[in-house]
Amino acid sequence: MSGADGYSGHGTSASEMPPLNPVPQQSPVRDATVLRPAAFQDQAVGERTLEEPVAPAPAVPTQEVTVSTLDEEVVLGPTGRPLPVFPEPSPPTAHGRARVISMVNQKGGVGKTTTTINLGASLAEFGYKVLLVDFDPQGSLSVGLGLNPHTMELTIYNLLMQRDVELDEVVVPSGVEGMDLLPSNIDLSAAEVQLVHEVAREQTLQRVLAPAIEKYDIVLIDCQPSLGLLTVNALTASDSVIVPLECEYFALRGVALLKTTIDKVRERLNPRLEIDGVLGTMFDGRTLHGREVMERLVEAWGDTVFHTVIRRTVKFSDSTVAGEPITSYASSSSGADNYRQLAKEVLARWQRDA
Ligand SMILES: Nc1ncnc2c1ncn2[C@@H]1O[C@H](COP(=O)(O)OP(=O)(O)OP(=O)(O)O)[C@@H](O)[C@H]1O
Ligand SMILES: [Mg+2]
Repeated sequence: MSGADGYSGHGTSASEMPPLNPVPQQSPVRDATVLRPAAFQDQAVGERTLEEPVAPAPAVPTQEVTVSTLDEEVVLGPTGRPLPVFPEPSPPTAHGRARVISMVNQKGGVGKTTTTINLGASLAEFGYKVLLVDFDPQGSLSVGLGLNPHTMELTIYNLLMQRDVELDEVVVPSGVEGMDLLPSNIDLSAAEVQLVHEVAREQTLQRVLAPAIEKYDIVLIDCQPSLGLLTVNALTASDSVIVPLECEYFALRGVALLKTTIDKVRERLNPRLEIDGVLGTMFDGRTLHGREVMERLVEAWGDTVFHTVIRRTVKFSDSTVAGEPITSYASSSSGADNYRQLAKEVLARWQRDA
């Protein structure tokens, strides 16, 4: 990593990147010759590098496909793997002991903020108490929930930098029942500079979020598109990470650097940090390009890739303009369904790992 304070900034060239992880095992399937798409069997998985061109043959189905075997039917999901059925979540019996999750990708415009809002709203629909943390000086999460950045009295900047400001004074309702927001605006950009001089500068967010852990079930942190000190603070405060990746050709560039940053934070600052999953966003299964990128994503990250993908739809921009999650703005849209399914998949992964 580069940078005077030891943190890297935006991006890196592909030639500087360390190789991706070896491919983890796919979910066991009973009869791989029948259940896996044919092109998957022919590929030398794991041998390709980031620089190589995308292979021409798409293996990923454009939509869910049912494959019949002798005694069972298997549904192949949009990632080309058999799609599990995720259980309907039951609301928690008691609140507190929150799990903290950061949405991280130093690439801009990949769906971090959209995922924070809509995953949060879906989890709140399932009865979880959710706190969203806007940790980006752009303040998109706050704006996306209808707040005016110019009229905010207190923001997360005050919480980080002023010892006499308490969490409850800064938290505001999000407009969604069961979901609150720690807002942010451009003031937060000053914190990145000021924090450099603080003692335990990487642990500042963790310290100020401590009271929230007692009250909420899930805390989702929306990071800015950088791997600087604010993002390292978010990773230090988190139990796990979700990496949204736009399903387009350059999606995987920079992911190796992100992985290195997560590994370093785990080694030096936060041993409990896990990767919950990589989320394909803005997926268009009708295009060859979308399907090829999805295929490469699964080659590179294996079962870390969520079975759920978020499809491209203009309803997301519309709901941002309306200042509310898609789950309420267009409750029965495919976008809302995608995020509800992601919430189920995330809950199932957490229960499996508990
Ligand atoms: N599935 C989707 N389909 C169509 N548009 C989408 C989708 N997801 C997000 N968008 C749009 O793409 C743009 C970028 O999304 P978003 O703000 O969530 O990305 P981000 O990673 O948070 O960006 P930044 O790095 O700047 O914070 C927004 O205009 C959003 O409405
Ligand atoms: Mg954002």
